[in-house]
Amino acid sequence: MPYPEMKGRVVLVTGGASGLGLAAGQSFAREGAHVVLADLRAEHAVAEAARIGAGHLGLGGDVSSESDVATLVDTTLARYGRLDVLINSAGIPDSFKPTLDQDVADFRRLVDIHLSGTYMMCKAAAPQMLRQGRGAMINLSSVAGVLGLARRNAYSAAKAGIGMMTRTLGCEWAAQGIRVNAIAPGYMLTPFMQKLVDDGKLDAGLVRRRTPAGRLGSAQHIADAMLFLASDSAEFITGVTLPVDGGYMAWGAVGDAYTGPLN
Ligand SMILES: NC(=O)c1ccc[n+]([C@@H]2O[C@H](COP(=O)([O-])OP(=O)(O)OC[C@H]3O[C@@H](n4cnc5c(N)ncnc54)[C@H](O)[C@@H]3O)[C@@H](O)[C@H]2O)c1
Repeated sequence: MPYPEMKGRVVLVTGGASGLGLAAGQSFAREGAHVVLADLRAEHAVAEAARIGAGHLGLGGDVSSESDVATLVDTTLARYGRLDVLINSAGIPDSFKPTLDQDVADFRRLVDIHLSGTYMMCKAAAPQMLRQGRGAMINLSSVAGVLGLARRNAYSAAKAGIGMMTRTLGCEWAAQGIRVNAIAPGYMLTPFMQKLVDDGKLDAGLVRRRTPAGRLGSAQHIADAMLFLASDSAEFITGVTLPVDGGYMAWGAVGDAYTGPLN
């Protein structure tokens, strides 16, 4: 247990039924935290929380609904009486359509879930963290929030917004003990990413060539970074977006970043 201070802390994870959110929940639970997995897919959240073990909770809720967001936080507080870590991992992929074929309703939905959802969750969690005089929030940005990816308008704009909102909230609450940071994952092999590969929207070989590390990351890589950012070891870190991407965003040269074998 590298972070013994996590024992007994309460961690609320949106998008907790799958991928990065689930890996985060499992990792914080291993450190002794009480974990609340919240997800649109309630039955999956409940099942995964039960699989983690006794003392954890699965809840259904839509982060783009203000009343659901309030219920998620209220239910967490009713059960555990405190909230130490909020992880905003709920999300859906972009349409990948050319701009002229994009549907404005889809654009709004993406922004609602990623950006407004993150905003509403932070806003709802903050009063309790302010009362405690301590708390950590971790938002999910993306390489798409920093680099320009064609046909990813809504997703990229939302992720860039999350990066900036992480700074504004981090500045607003720094003196009151709440730290707000983000992680910008590169290409991590989660169900989200596997579906993009399976649907032919993403070429895993090309991604590996473009990534200095030469491979896709794992959900555990992100969970490990979340644990650090939420821990007391990161006490003086706030407002940052940390890339966890095998060097993807650091690469600026022409040509492949990785030229080794692909199998
Ligand atoms: N996997 C990657 O490589 C990668 C890279 C960059 C950023 N991200 C971001 O990380 C986050 C998690 O991605 P993942 O790969 O774990 O995806 P995932 O699809 O495995 O999990 C996302 C979860 O969010 C839930 N969800 C979707 N809409 C919701 C809503 N409105 N309210 C509540 N829950 C909702 C889904 O049901 C799902 O369980 C997303 O924000 C994604 O954009 C992922």
